[in-house]
Amino acid sequence: MSNIKNLLNKVKKELFLSKNIYDLNLIYSKFLGKNSYLSKLTKKIHLINIKDRSYAGKLINKTKCDIINIISKHRIYLEKKILEESVINEKIDISLPGRTISIGGLHPITSAIIDISYFFCKLNFINVPGLEIEDNYHNFDALNIPVNHPSRNPKDTFWLNKEILLRTQTSSMQIRHMKHNKPPTRIISFGKVYRKDYNATHTPMFHQMEGLVIDYNINLLHLKDMICEFLSSFFNKKITIRFRMSYFPFTEPSMEVDIMINNRWLEVIGCGMVHPKVLKNLNINTKIFSGFAFGLGIERLVMIRYNIDDIRYFFKNDLRFLKQFK
Ligand code: DAH
Repeated sequence: MSNIKNLLNKVKKELFLSKNIYDLNLIYSKFLGKNSYLSKLTKKIHLINIKDRSYAGKLINKTKCDIINIISKHRIYLEKKILEESVINEKIDISLPGRTISIGGLHPITSAIIDISYFFCKLNFINVPGLEIEDNYHNFDALNIPVNHPSRNPKDTFWLNKEILLRTQTSSMQIRHMKHNKPPTRIISFGKVYRKDYNATHTPMFHQMEGLVIDYNINLLHLKDMICEFLSSFFNKKITIRFRMSYFPFTEPSMEVDIMINNRWLEVIGCGMVHPKVLKNLNINTKIFSGFAFGLGIERLVMIRYNIDDIRYFFKNDLRFLKQFK
């Protein structure tokens, strides 16, 4: 019994001499570990005569607790002391230069989307988010696209099943918006569209913007004037523009807009007056309302803006390309 009582004093003495956490851990295993005197004693407790056994058991347990307690206290004391010493001893060299953090930039497609939406928001257009997965009705039927139109062909379009597809055009947003919102309407919608194409001017995914205006007495002049303003704002100079008659199933009349760059006409926008059939599909009274729609490919505009000859640069994530637009 007296050995057990002495144990606590021995621990205290050793703790007093310990200088670091390593010493402390050694003391811990020496007095409390598997091979410690206390553990061995516990294993042999059945050899003590039954009269004294309970007293011995209690004494062993209490001693264990006491040892754990003083070791823990000493650990806290040591950790604090080590920290304080390191704060005093460590010197910070404030003359060392800091690490530079390089700042990223916007992708040219993102900046173009921001520029374009800024232009249209100033004209009171609302930018509505769209869906990339569409159904037959919104992508084709409601836009008056005939059932045998080539764009419905699985060779050109990513069908997910017979009804559902990756949208081929943002024009589907005209339908989605008009279905739930009564005119007057003034919206733009940006987003990814998908077509099975891959070469220097086409990628299977690219970005489009769709615009739609439905109001009282809207005519072609409103459309033409707005497009001229938009193009000179986007390219930041006066540009030569031509409106060429064209055909889209959802507009009548339909036009394509070309701009003159380096003595060449480049097609940039498709547009026209919204086809009465489309308006009727959406229960809009064509005697009261008329409107125009327009759609453009963002990559194409940015390629012209910066004289880029291959659309695939946009998606290669090559920093040498991207850094030029910071
Ligand atoms: N959706 C057409 C396309 O992807 C572009 C377009 C043409 C949109 C005429 C329009 C429009 O709103 O009126 O080629």
